[in-house]
Amino acid sequence: MTETTLVLGPGALGRLLVAYLGQPYLEQQNRIELVGRKASSCPISLVTPEGETLSCLVPRIIANQAPWKPALVHLTTKAYAAEQALAELATHIDPATPLVLWQNGFQVQEPLTRRWQGPVLCATTTEGAYTQGEDIVVHAGLGHTFIGHLGGAYPDLADSVAKMLGRAGLSAESCTDIRQRLWHKLVVNAAINPLVARYRIRNGQLRDRPFRPMVTGIIDELSLIMEAESIAPPKQGWAAMVWKVIEGTANNRASMLQDVLAGRPTEADAILGPLREAARRHDIVAPRLDALWDNSP
Ligand SMILES: NC(=O)c1ccc[n+]([C@@H]2O[C@H](COP(=O)([O-])OP(=O)(O)OC[C@H]3O[C@@H](n4cnc5c(N)ncnc54)[C@H](OP(=O)(O)O)[C@@H]3O)[C@@H](O)[C@H]2O)c1
Repeated sequence: MTETTLVLGPGALGRLLVAYLGQPYLEQQNRIELVGRKASSCPISLVTPEGETLSCLVPRIIANQAPWKPALVHLTTKAYAAEQALAELATHIDPATPLVLWQNGFQVQEPLTRRWQGPVLCATTTEGAYTQGEDIVVHAGLGHTFIGHLGGAYPDLADSVAKMLGRAGLSAESCTDIRQRLWHKLVVNAAINPLVARYRIRNGQLRDRPFRPMVTGIIDELSLIMEAESIAPPKQGWAAMVWKVIEGTANNRASMLQDVLAGRPTEADAILGPLREAARRHDIVAPRLDALWDNSP
Protein backbone atom coordinates (compact mmCIF):
# COMPACT_ATOMS: atom_id res chain seq x y z
CA MET A 1 0.00 0.00 0.00
CA THR A 2 1.26 3.52 -0.77
CA GLU A 3 2.05 5.47 2.37
CA THR A 4 1.92 9.23 2.75
CA THR A 5 4.77 11.32 4.07
CA LEU A 6 3.90 14.84 5.23
CA VAL A 7 6.24 17.82 5.05
CA LEU A 8 5.05 20.49 7.50
CA GLY A 9 6.30 24.00 6.67
CA PRO A 10 6.23 25.01 2.99
CA GLY A 11 9.33 27.26 3.05
CA ALA A 12 12.75 26.71 1.51
CA LEU A 13 13.59 23.39 3.13
CA GLY A 14 10.02 22.05 2.98
CA ARG A 15 9.70 22.79 -0.74
CA LEU A 16 13.16 21.31 -1.35
CA LEU A 17 12.16 18.05 0.35
CA VAL A 18 8.86 17.70 -1.52
CA ALA A 19 10.46 18.62 -4.84
CA TYR A 20 12.97 15.77 -4.45
CA LEU A 21 10.81 13.25 -2.57
CA GLY A 22 7.78 13.90 -4.77
CA GLN A 23 9.35 12.89 -8.06
CA PRO A 24 7.06 10.55 -10.01
CA TYR A 25 9.44 7.55 -9.95
CA LEU A 26 9.32 7.55 -6.14
CA GLU A 27 5.58 8.09 -5.85
CA GLN A 28 4.72 4.39 -6.15
CA GLN A 29 6.35 3.75 -2.78
CA ASN A 30 5.62 6.99 -1.04
CA ARG A 31 3.19 9.82 -1.60
CA ILE A 32 4.29 13.29 -0.43
CA GLU A 33 2.02 16.09 0.76
CA LEU A 34 3.10 19.59 1.76
CA VAL A 35 1.27 21.06 4.75
CA GLY A 36 1.09 24.83 5.17
CA ARG A 37 -1.20 27.57 6.37
CA LYS A 38 -2.83 27.72 2.91
CA ALA A 39 -3.79 24.98 0.48
CA SER A 40 -2.73 25.42 -3.13
CA SER A 41 -3.08 23.62 -6.44
CA CYS A 42 0.05 25.21 -7.92
CA PRO A 43 3.04 22.96 -8.55
CA ILE A 44 6.33 23.60 -6.78
CA SER A 45 9.10 24.68 -9.13
CA LEU A 46 12.56 23.50 -8.22
CA VAL A 47 15.56 25.38 -9.62
CA THR A 48 18.36 22.83 -9.43
CA PRO A 49 21.97 23.72 -8.57
CA GLU A 50 22.66 23.34 -12.32
CA GLY A 51 20.06 26.01 -13.09
CA GLU A 52 17.44 23.66 -14.55
CA THR A 53 13.80 24.28 -13.55
CA LEU A 54 11.67 21.23 -12.71
CA SER A 55 7.99 21.32 -11.93
CA CYS A 56 6.65 19.09 -9.18
CA LEU A 57 2.96 18.55 -8.60
CA VAL A 58 2.44 17.65 -4.93
CA PRO A 59 -0.76 18.10 -2.96
CA ARG A 60 -0.44 21.29 -0.87
CA ILE A 61 -2.86 21.03 2.00
CA ILE A 62 -3.71 22.55 5.38
CA ALA A 63 -3.47 20.65 8.67
CA ASN A 64 -7.09 19.46 8.84
CA GLN A 65 -6.78 17.79 5.40
CA ALA A 66 -3.90 15.58 6.56
CA PRO A 67 -4.35 11.78 6.49
CA TRP A 68 -4.79 10.31 9.99
CA LYS A 69 -1.92 7.82 9.61
CA PRO A 70 0.97 9.36 7.70
CA ALA A 71 4.12 7.24 7.53
CA LEU A 72 6.21 10.17 8.76
CA VAL A 73 6.16 13.95 9.25
CA HIS A 74 9.16 16.10 8.30
CA LEU A 75 8.88 19.29 10.36
CA THR A 76 10.49 22.08 8.32
CA THR A 77 9.40 25.32 9.96
CA LYS A 78 11.84 27.73 11.60
CA ALA A 79 12.68 26.76 15.20
CA TYR A 80 10.47 29.49 16.70
CA ALA A 81 7.42 28.24 14.75
CA ALA A 82 7.91 24.49 15.23
CA GLU A 83 5.89 23.83 18.39
CA GLN A 84 2.90 25.82 17.19
CA ALA A 85 2.89 24.24 13.71
CA LEU A 86 3.13 20.75 15.16
CA ALA A 87 0.37 21.47 17.70
CA GLU A 88 -1.93 22.51 14.82
CA LEU A 89 -1.23 19.28 12.92
CA ALA A 90 -1.17 17.02 16.00
CA THR A 91 -4.95 16.92 16.45
CA HIS A 92 -5.35 15.56 12.90
CA ILE A 93 -2.75 12.76 12.88
CA ASP A 94 -2.01 9.61 14.84
CA PRO A 95 0.05 10.66 17.91
CA ALA A 96 2.42 7.73 17.27
CA THR A 97 3.51 9.16 13.88
CA PRO A 98 7.31 9.38 13.54
CA LEU A 99 8.72 12.90 13.26
CA VAL A 100 11.90 14.29 11.73
CA LEU A 101 12.95 17.70 13.10
CA TRP A 102 15.01 19.83 10.69
CA GLN A 103 15.39 22.96 12.83
CA ASN A 104 18.68 24.75 13.39
CA GLY A 105 19.80 25.30 16.97
CA PHE A 106 18.94 23.08 19.91
CA GLN A 107 15.74 24.55 21.24
CA VAL A 108 12.97 22.28 20.02
CA GLN A 109 14.81 18.97 19.73
CA GLU A 110 14.85 17.94 23.39
CA PRO A 111 11.34 19.05 24.41
CA LEU A 112 9.73 17.50 21.33
CA THR A 113 11.70 14.27 21.70
CA ARG A 114 10.46 14.07 25.29
CA ARG A 115 6.84 15.00 24.64
CA TRP A 116 5.93 13.49 21.27
CA GLN A 117 4.49 9.99 21.63
CA GLY A 118 6.02 8.55 18.46
CA PRO A 119 9.70 8.28 17.50
CA VAL A 120 11.45 11.63 17.00
CA LEU A 121 14.52 11.91 14.80
CA CYS A 122 16.63 15.03 14.29
CA ALA A 123 18.26 16.07 11.04
CA THR A 124 21.14 18.43 10.44
CA THR A 125 21.82 19.46 6.88
CA THR A 126 24.24 21.53 4.85
CA GLU A 127 21.82 21.70 1.88
CA GLY A 128 21.22 25.33 0.92
CA ALA A 129 17.87 26.53 -0.41
CA TYR A 130 15.82 29.68 -0.61
CA THR A 131 12.32 30.56 -1.78
CA GLN A 132 11.11 32.84 -4.53
CA GLY A 133 7.46 33.83 -4.29
CA GLU A 134 4.86 31.29 -3.22
CA ASP A 135 5.86 28.33 -5.37
CA ILE A 136 9.56 28.35 -6.21
CA VAL A 137 12.52 26.88 -4.36
CA VAL A 138 16.07 27.48 -5.48
CA HIS A 139 18.47 24.70 -4.51
CA ALA A 140 21.47 26.98 -4.11
CA GLY A 141 24.02 24.49 -2.83
CA LEU A 142 24.28 20.72 -2.62
CA GLY A 143 24.95 19.45 0.89
CA HIS A 144 24.74 16.42 3.11
CA THR A 145 22.26 15.45 5.82
CA PHE A 146 22.70 13.42 9.00
CA ILE A 147 19.66 11.88 10.68
CA GLY A 148 19.38 10.23 14.06
CA HIS A 149 17.64 10.04 17.43
CA LEU A 150 19.04 12.16 20.29
CA GLY A 151 19.62 9.03 22.37
CA GLY A 152 20.70 6.85 19.44
CA ALA A 153 17.38 4.95 19.34
CA TYR A 154 15.41 3.95 16.20
CA PRO A 155 18.48 3.24 14.01
CA ASP A 156 16.36 1.36 11.43
CA LEU A 157 13.94 4.24 11.06
CA ALA A 158 16.82 6.73 10.73
CA ASP A 159 18.37 4.47 8.12
CA SER A 160 15.19 4.16 6.09
CA VAL A 161 14.61 7.95 6.13
CA ALA A 162 18.20 8.58 5.04
CA LYS A 163 17.86 5.95 2.27
CA MET A 164 14.65 7.53 1.05
CA LEU A 165 16.36 10.93 0.82
CA GLY A 166 19.28 9.28 -0.95
CA ARG A 167 16.99 7.61 -3.53
CA ALA A 168 15.44 11.00 -4.15
CA GLY A 169 18.86 12.51 -4.89
CA LEU A 170 19.64 14.21 -1.56
CA SER A 171 22.82 12.90 0.03
CA ALA A 172 22.01 11.63 3.52
CA GLU A 173 23.09 9.11 6.14
CA SER A 174 21.84 7.93 9.49
CA CYS A 175 23.98 8.37 12.60
CA THR A 176 23.95 7.57 16.29
CA ASP A 177 25.65 10.82 17.38
CA ILE A 178 23.18 13.44 16.19
CA ARG A 179 23.24 15.19 19.61
CA GLN A 180 26.95 15.87 19.20
CA ARG A 181 26.49 16.94 15.58
CA LEU A 182 23.74 19.39 16.55
CA TRP A 183 25.92 20.94 19.28
CA HIS A 184 28.87 21.23 16.89
CA LYS A 185 26.70 23.03 14.38
CA LEU A 186 25.36 25.22 17.18
CA VAL A 187 28.91 26.27 18.10
CA VAL A 188 29.58 27.26 14.48
CA ASN A 189 26.28 29.12 14.20
CA ALA A 190 26.74 30.92 17.55
CA ALA A 191 30.26 32.06 16.63
CA ILE A 192 29.21 33.39 13.21
CA ASN A 193 25.52 34.26 12.85
CA PRO A 194 24.78 36.77 15.65
CA LEU A 195 27.95 38.78 14.85
CA VAL A 196 27.41 38.94 11.09
CA ALA A 197 23.73 39.78 11.60
CA ARG A 198 24.51 42.53 14.11
CA TYR A 199 27.25 44.17 12.01
CA ARG A 200 25.61 43.33 8.66
CA ILE A 201 28.76 41.82 7.20
CA ARG A 202 29.58 38.80 5.07
CA ASN A 203 31.05 35.79 6.87
CA GLY A 204 34.57 36.38 5.53
CA GLN A 205 34.80 39.81 7.16
CA LEU A 206 34.97 38.03 10.53
CA ARG A 207 38.60 37.23 9.66
CA ASP A 208 39.52 40.92 9.92
CA ARG A 209 39.71 43.43 12.74
CA PRO A 210 37.75 44.37 14.76
CA PHE A 211 35.77 41.12 14.41
CA ARG A 212 38.52 38.48 14.63
CA PRO A 213 39.14 38.90 18.39
CA MET A 214 35.37 38.89 18.98
CA VAL A 215 35.08 35.48 17.28
CA THR A 216 38.06 34.16 19.25
CA GLY A 217 36.56 35.32 22.55
CA ILE A 218 33.20 33.71 21.74
CA ILE A 219 34.90 30.41 20.78
CA ASP A 220 36.70 30.44 24.17
CA GLU A 221 33.38 30.72 26.01
CA LEU A 222 31.73 28.10 23.79
CA SER A 223 34.60 25.63 24.40
CA LEU A 224 34.08 25.91 28.16
CA ILE A 225 30.35 25.31 27.82
CA MET A 226 30.89 22.30 25.53
CA GLU A 227 33.39 20.79 27.95
CA ALA A 228 30.93 21.21 30.82
CA GLU A 229 28.19 19.59 28.69
CA SER A 230 30.57 16.69 27.90
CA ILE A 231 30.34 17.36 24.16
CA ALA A 232 33.56 16.07 22.61
CA PRO A 233 35.37 18.64 20.46
CA PRO A 234 35.89 17.98 16.76
CA LYS A 235 39.24 16.35 15.90
CA GLN A 236 40.72 19.65 14.73
CA GLY A 237 39.48 21.57 17.82
CA TRP A 238 36.70 24.17 18.16
CA ALA A 239 38.59 27.17 16.78
CA ALA A 240 39.80 25.36 13.64
CA MET A 241 36.27 24.06 13.00
CA VAL A 242 34.75 27.55 13.18
CA TRP A 243 37.49 29.25 11.11
CA LYS A 244 37.20 26.55 8.43
CA VAL A 245 33.49 27.31 8.02
CA ILE A 246 34.20 31.07 7.93
CA GLU A 247 36.83 30.46 5.24
CA GLY A 248 34.54 28.18 3.22
CA THR A 249 31.60 30.57 3.37
CA ALA A 250 33.56 33.84 3.19
CA ASN A 251 31.35 35.31 0.48
CA ASN A 252 28.04 34.23 2.03
CA ARG A 253 25.46 36.25 3.87
CA ALA A 254 24.42 33.98 6.77
CA SER A 255 20.73 33.11 7.07
CA MET A 256 20.41 35.25 10.21
CA LEU A 257 21.75 38.28 8.33
CA GLN A 258 19.36 37.57 5.46
CA ASP A 259 16.48 37.44 7.96
CA VAL A 260 17.55 40.77 9.48
CA LEU A 261 17.86 42.42 6.06
CA ALA A 262 14.42 41.10 5.06
CA GLY A 263 12.85 42.28 8.35
CA ARG A 264 11.96 38.68 9.36
CA PRO A 265 12.35 37.23 12.87
CA THR A 266 15.63 35.37 13.36
CA GLU A 267 16.55 32.04 14.98
CA ALA A 268 18.82 33.81 17.54
CA ASP A 269 16.82 32.31 20.43
CA ALA A 270 17.22 28.76 19.17
CA ILE A 271 20.97 29.27 18.78
CA LEU A 272 21.98 31.40 21.78
CA GLY A 273 19.23 30.28 24.19
CA PRO A 274 20.40 26.66 24.69
CA LEU A 275 24.04 27.77 25.06
CA ARG A 276 23.23 30.41 27.68
CA GLU A 277 21.00 27.91 29.46
CA ALA A 278 23.88 25.38 29.52
CA ALA A 279 26.27 28.10 30.80
CA ARG A 280 23.83 28.89 33.64
CA ARG A 281 23.45 25.21 34.51
CA HIS A 282 27.21 24.83 34.89
CA ASP A 283 27.85 28.24 36.55
CA ILE A 284 29.94 29.41 33.62
CA VAL A 285 30.22 33.16 33.15
CA ALA A 286 29.83 33.94 29.44
CA PRO A 287 29.83 37.73 29.03
CA ARG A 288 30.39 37.61 25.27
CA LEU A 289 27.43 35.30 24.70
CA ASP A 290 25.37 37.52 27.01
CA ALA A 291 26.33 40.55 24.92
CA LEU A 292 25.38 38.73 21.71
CA TRP A 293 22.05 37.91 23.31
CA ASP A 294 21.46 41.49 24.54
CA ASN A 295 22.15 42.81 21.04
CA SER A 296 20.57 39.95 19.13
CA PRO A 297 18.39 40.94 16.20
N1 LIG B 1 16.89 26.94 3.92
C1 LIG B 1 18.01 26.27 4.12
O1 LIG B 1 18.86 26.20 3.23
C2 LIG B 1 18.28 25.58 5.43
C3 LIG B 1 19.47 24.84 5.55
C4 LIG B 1 19.73 24.21 6.76
C5 LIG B 1 18.85 24.30 7.82
N2 LIG B 1 17.72 25.04 7.66
C6 LIG B 1 16.82 25.12 8.83
O2 LIG B 1 15.55 24.58 8.45
C7 LIG B 1 14.49 25.27 9.12
C8 LIG B 1 13.52 25.82 8.06
O3 LIG B 1 14.23 26.78 7.30
P1 LIG B 1 13.65 27.43 5.97
O4 LIG B 1 14.78 28.19 5.35
O5 LIG B 1 12.95 26.41 5.17
O6 LIG B 1 12.59 28.47 6.58
P2 LIG B 1 11.40 29.21 5.82
O7 LIG B 1 11.74 29.36 4.37
O8 LIG B 1 11.09 30.42 6.63
O9 LIG B 1 10.20 28.17 5.93
C9 LIG B 1 9.48 27.94 7.07
C10 LIG B 1 8.06 27.63 6.65
O10 LIG B 1 7.32 27.21 7.79
C11 LIG B 1 6.00 27.72 7.62
N3 LIG B 1 5.26 27.75 8.86
C12 LIG B 1 5.47 28.49 9.97
N4 LIG B 1 4.51 28.27 10.88
C13 LIG B 1 3.66 27.37 10.32
C14 LIG B 1 2.45 26.75 10.77
N5 LIG B 1 1.95 27.02 11.97
N6 LIG B 1 1.85 25.88 9.94
C15 LIG B 1 2.36 25.61 8.72
N7 LIG B 1 3.48 26.16 8.23
C16 LIG B 1 4.12 27.03 9.04
C17 LIG B 1 6.25 29.11 7.09
O11 LIG B 1 5.06 29.61 6.54
P3 LIG B 1 4.71 31.18 6.60
O12 LIG B 1 5.59 31.78 5.55
O13 LIG B 1 3.27 31.16 6.31
O14 LIG B 1 5.08 31.64 7.99
C18 LIG B 1 7.32 28.82 6.06
O15 LIG B 1 6.74 28.44 4.83
C19 LIG B 1 15.18 26.37 9.94
O16 LIG B 1 15.37 25.96 11.26
C20 LIG B 1 16.52 26.56 9.24
O17 LIG B 1 17.52 27.07 10.11
C21 LIG B 1 17.40 25.68 6.51
